Amino acid sequence: MALIPHVLIFPLPLQGPVNCMLKLAELLCLHQEIHVTFLNTEHIQQRLLNCTDVQIRFEKYPNFKFVTIPDGLPEDNPRNGEQVGKLIEGVEEVSNPLLREMVACGSLGPNSEKPITCLIVDGIFTFAVDVAKEVGIPLLYFDTISPCGLWTYLAVPKLIEAGEIPFKGNDLDALINSLPGMEGIIRRRDLPSFCRTPDLNSPIIQHVIKEGKHIVQAQGLIFNTFEGLEGPILSQFQSHCPNIYAIGPLHIQMKAKISSKCLPNTTTSNSLWKDDMSCLDWLDTQPEKSVLFVSIGSLATMSMAQFLEFWYGLVNSKIRFLWVQRPGSIVGLEVEDNINVPIALSESTKERGCIVSWAPQEEVLAHPSIGGFLTHSGWNSTLESIVEGVPMICWPYFVDQQVNSRYVGEVWKLGLDMKDVCDRDTIERMVREVMEVRKIEFLERAKCMSSLAIASVSEGGSSYQDLDRLIEDIRLMRI
Ligand code: UDX
Repeated sequence: MALIPHVLIFPLPLQGPVNCMLKLAELLCLHQEIHVTFLNTEHIQQRLLNCTDVQIRFEKYPNFKFVTIPDGLPEDNPRNGEQVGKLIEGVEEVSNPLLREMVACGSLGPNSEKPITCLIVDGIFTFAVDVAKEVGIPLLYFDTISPCGLWTYLAVPKLIEAGEIPFKGNDLDALINSLPGMEGIIRRRDLPSFCRTPDLNSPIIQHVIKEGKHIVQAQGLIFNTFEGLEGPILSQFQSHCPNIYAIGPLHIQMKAKISSKCLPNTTTSNSLWKDDMSCLDWLDTQPEKSVLFVSIGSLATMSMAQFLEFWYGLVNSKIRFLWVQRPGSIVGLEVEDNINVPIALSESTKERGCIVSWAPQEEVLAHPSIGGFLTHSGWNSTLESIVEGVPMICWPYFVDQQVNSRYVGEVWKLGLDMKDVCDRDTIERMVREVMEVRKIEFLERAKCMSSLAIASVSEGGSSYQDLDRLIEDIRLMRI
């Protein structure tokens, strides 16, 4: 009996990766021949069900199914940036045996009705290489962080060998010379945050080294990027892993496919927090390109002191702002605690600002009133901003964000990199620079890059072609 193409998708249980992989799942489901099983942790699944229409959205695909597993953490354990290491360890411990059992002999194994024919998992899950080999199915790693960030991860052994890490001395502005393709671009401070550790045995450094060794053993790598943005980095990857599918920006690839099939094109949300739609009404009342959107994503945190510096900087700039203050994003402050905000700040905010706990970000960035984005440089946020032609001020928190922000400021010239600085005067200066002084220059650059992004997912574009090739490879099982 002929096998049905059946993909098992397994994201890292965090907002960014889950969002990306759900979009990929939906793109695959549009091809009715391909079946998709989406493996989510119970925690993520519950939050998606509470905050989105994901259930109804996927019910229309008879070839799609969610399967859930525990994430190994107690339900009340926070799952923010400070806890990511613990979360990854927990998920690995629980999912390694469960995934193996499922695809080797369980409900999705070779003797089941619809055995898995291809695994698409987050690059962080190194154990998937062994599982795929044991069961004899192809494995594609989907690393939802930026390829420029991932490239620096892969280079960690080389950086250690060259004596570049751990850093000698305190000069974070020293250039890194042994990163192929990034010569003259990356300084020590632009390497992923974990490279600042003096301890090469730290769990994260060890995991990154392991990830680099495993990633190249997959039959292919999927990236949420496009040739016009990261062509040179993609060429570097090709020397390690020839089969690359650069299919981003996924959210507009998704929109393009939906409209080409004449399906209703509504904005979809995969948010783990409830979107506060009222901010769109507020944006409607603001002048064109006058508002700075401020958000540090789903994991980043800041201290109370940094939070106040941000607030003073924003207010002193006199620029209008829409600020996402995510519950739990201020270290040491419980979600239910009230913040004592100086009167001057709250009064000015009433005049020129709007604060929400979670925004419909894609729609916000697409709104005509938005003129800039103060971001933590998470990869989804960066791509969403690029697509809408919105210049950025980058305040990276960790992992690939340090690299992304350098590329935004120095290579793509789409804004300013504010990394490692958090004082009200710098914030005020950078906000004015992006929103007033160099507004036209940045908007023009951003518009050009946005056109390249849109072209890449249009018929015949590089991401369009790579997605077609990915679908055909899965469909014909020729990976
Ligand atoms: C994590 C990592 O931190 C990041 O470096 C990596 O590149 C991806 O995973 P995260 O904090 O989740 O990032 O940021 P990002 O990748 O930007 O994803 C956040 C997502 O949440 C975006 O798709 C954004 O649209 C959405 N979002 C964010 C909202 O919908 N509303 C908000 O208010 C804030």
